Amino acid sequence: MPSGWGVFISFEGPDGSGKSTQVRKLAEALSRLGYDVATASEPGGTAIGRRIREIILDTRSAGLHGVTEFLLFAADRAQDVHEVILPALRAGRVVLADRFVDSSLAYQAHGLGMDLDSVLSANRIATDGLRPDLTLLLDIDVAEGVARAKGRSHGDRIEERMLEFHQRVRDAYHQMAAAEPDRFRVIDVTGKPAESVHEEVLAQVLDFLAARGVERRRSGRVQEERKGGPACHAHHGDPGAAGGHKEA
Ligand SMILES: Nc1ncnc2c1ncn2[C@@H]1O[C@H](COP(=O)(O)OP(=O)(O)OP(=O)(O)O)[C@@H](O)[C@H]1O
Ligand SMILES: [Mg+2]
Repeated sequence: MPSGWGVFISFEGPDGSGKSTQVRKLAEALSRLGYDVATASEPGGTAIGRRIREIILDTRSAGLHGVTEFLLFAADRAQDVHEVILPALRAGRVVLADRFVDSSLAYQAHGLGMDLDSVLSANRIATDGLRPDLTLLLDIDVAEGVARAKGRSHGDRIEERMLEFHQRVRDAYHQMAAAEPDRFRVIDVTGKPAESVHEEVLAQVLDFLAARGVERRRSGRVQEERKGGPACHAHHGDPGAAGGHKEA
């Protein structure tokens, strides 16, 4: 990767595990500490992505084929990568992504049974082979996650059936984390308040940024300084370090 390139951190985990909550808290904390942070979320993280998302969600899309839906998700991700994530990495920023390719592998391939190689190739096209440097897996008991996501309690027959799907997703995440222990950090969030999860997340990320030699723009808040401040971006200390951004 070129020198001056940023750091790409993704958040993964089953529904309701707190990814969006933790991305928000981490972005605030890192900015306060002086890191140059950008965030990305999907689906619908860009204006074009939101139009794609509308097609997926619109009730008039009742005839939407599963493959079409899958490719629309990939198209949304492609837009996010090229419009948001890559420019931020080029500018040397710390990019926090709320879900990335691992979500497709967990949900589409393992959860829904789509062909793994097809999921991988579509995503390789969508992301140009970009891979996170660090992935925080928020691991949660599926019943608690689904209940949180729905904002109510669980227990009927249909929900039990859905729990099986979410359990497959959770198992898939465990397998991926075990297969790539250098990239994944698994954080058990079951029963933990958001603030204590945040403390664990922040500690892991600061540890990683320090190991990578990523510098702060300056100590303290940077948001206000962005317009007139020094053009000193966060960067990799070792551009040749292993665990780079592109798939082999
Ligand atoms: N540690 C926590 N304890 C209890 N509730 C939480 C915790 N973290 C987040 N929540 C709440 O649970 C719900 C789901 O959180 P959030 O949206 O951050 O999860 P998510 O992983 O982004 O979900 P999704 O996969 O559906 O996008 C929200 O209402 C949020 O306020
Ligand atoms: Mg979310």
